[in-house]
Amino acid sequence: MSSQADETPVPGGPVAAVVILAAGEGKRMRSSRSKLLHELAGHSMLSYAVTAATTLQPEHILVVVGHLREQVEAHLAEIAPHASTAVQAEQLGTGHAAQVAMAELGDLDGEVVVTMGDVPMLTSETLAGLVGEHRRRRADATVLTAQVVDPTGYGRIVRDAAGSVVRIVEHRDADLEQREITEINSGIYVFGAGALRAGLAQIVPENDQGELYLTDVLRHLRAAGGEVEAHTIDDLWQTEGVNDRVQLSRMGAEMNRRILERWMRAGVSVSDPATTWVHASVDLGSDVTLLPGVSLEGATSVGVGAVIGPDTTLVDVEVGAGASVCRTHGSLSVIGAGASVGPYAYLRPGTVLGAGGKIGTFVETKNAQIGAGAKTPHLSYLGDVVIGDGANIGAGVIFANYDGIHKSTSHVGAYSFVGSNSVLAAPVEIADGAYVAAGSTITGDVGPGELAVSRGRQRNVVGWVLRKRAGTKTARAAKAALVDEQVADGLEGDQQ
Ligand code: UD1
Ligand code: MG
Repeated sequence: MSSQADETPVPGGPVAAVVILAAGEGKRMRSSRSKLLHELAGHSMLSYAVTAATTLQPEHILVVVGHLREQVEAHLAEIAPHASTAVQAEQLGTGHAAQVAMAELGDLDGEVVVTMGDVPMLTSETLAGLVGEHRRRRADATVLTAQVVDPTGYGRIVRDAAGSVVRIVEHRDADLEQREITEINSGIYVFGAGALRAGLAQIVPENDQGELYLTDVLRHLRAAGGEVEAHTIDDLWQTEGVNDRVQLSRMGAEMNRRILERWMRAGVSVSDPATTWVHASVDLGSDVTLLPGVSLEGATSVGVGAVIGPDTTLVDVEVGAGASVCRTHGSLSVIGAGASVGPYAYLRPGTVLGAGGKIGTFVETKNAQIGAGAKTPHLSYLGDVVIGDGANIGAGVIFANYDGIHKSTSHVGAYSFVGSNSVLAAPVEIADGAYVAAGSTITGDVGPGELAVSRGRQRNVVGWVLRKRAGTKTARAAKAALVDEQVADGLEGDQQ
């Protein structure tokens, strides 16, 4: 993500406060989790609101909390310790929420931006534009509005014949004529702090819901001769609030579409945007290719020219330049430059694959440091291991790291070779340049240059098939292969 600018994006200096209204119940989510903690593109709704506010660099960011406030406060402490909260114990309306906020902020000067916790696509640029317009017009209040096709449910912007904003009427309070108005209130405003205090002192709960409406502040300011303005934006997504999970997923998809579009313009190939999901926090290099069914989450980063997918989920994974990761699930891992992973690999936390290394098909790794150029191509489990550069782990090798009580770490030295289907019972140390013969169970250390063999010696029972499986196709094949018929006849009779 873009790093935060040092100077405020609003010409004329920072605003005094941003108040985020977030006390409402969010009933339509039908969730035991606060609506504001639900996520789009990997971040909570509240974190988008706080991020947009933070970019304005206000003196105060104040979140009005109420419903499920312990959850909201705990989350806020994690994502934005610089923000504070005011408690609206009873949700008596948006005007009441603003009153609670202003009581908390005391008698500050300057401007107060009011936003909502459930409008995740609102950008800091839009907020800066709103504040800029407010300042140019020397207004007392400026509301962010949009022209929509279906204004149902929204407050309508009522203008006079000269086009000045007179008031906002809620849908449920609007008469038929007012319902025809298609300019809606986004619920986002900037106020002069004094004007807001004065307006909030005048509002009364005389409306269909019996609530204190923040929207009524505009009417009172206007009646007192104040300057009330509207700033209209075209991007309707930015004014849309999330009320239920249908809207949440629709908006999540739009957010993802915009993230992918931004990356494509920056030089990333996305072969199937409909099945590719990239969190806002992910970083991609140029000439990265994302194949269908890819989900990149959290702090994942992908280096220049790497190919990810198809069907790959990476959470907090660092992928080096030129690496390829196919049909893989990985978390908290590092994949070196030019390395190859999958298909069908499972990288658990603590996996670090060196440059040019390989974690192949049906391989699970956990807390595994695998050196540069080292390979574990097939059907293995590597848990708690340190593997040197250029080592080769044969098919089906298991690092048995758990004795039922303790987990222990095993080491394999540089350019060593562990034969297929071996079990290494941790902790063991295989030195640099050592061999383990296929099918061994290794319980002790192996020195440099040594070959460890730990399995039964091979014994061939001559003539067994001819005697014990006489008359079968196998026996006939054996007989045909034994060129000397007489030897075969002799073997059939031999007792061994
Ligand atoms: C509000 C506006 C409406 C606007 C719409 C935009 C009012 C009266 N109406 O209506 O004009 O078109 O937003 O989405 O303001 N909240 C509190 N405490 C409360 C009530 C609400 O903190 O007591 C918070 C909610 O958590 C939410 C925001 O304020 O974040 C808006 O509340 P909501 O009930 O959704 O208002 P709307 O009816 O949508
Ligand atoms: Mg709403």
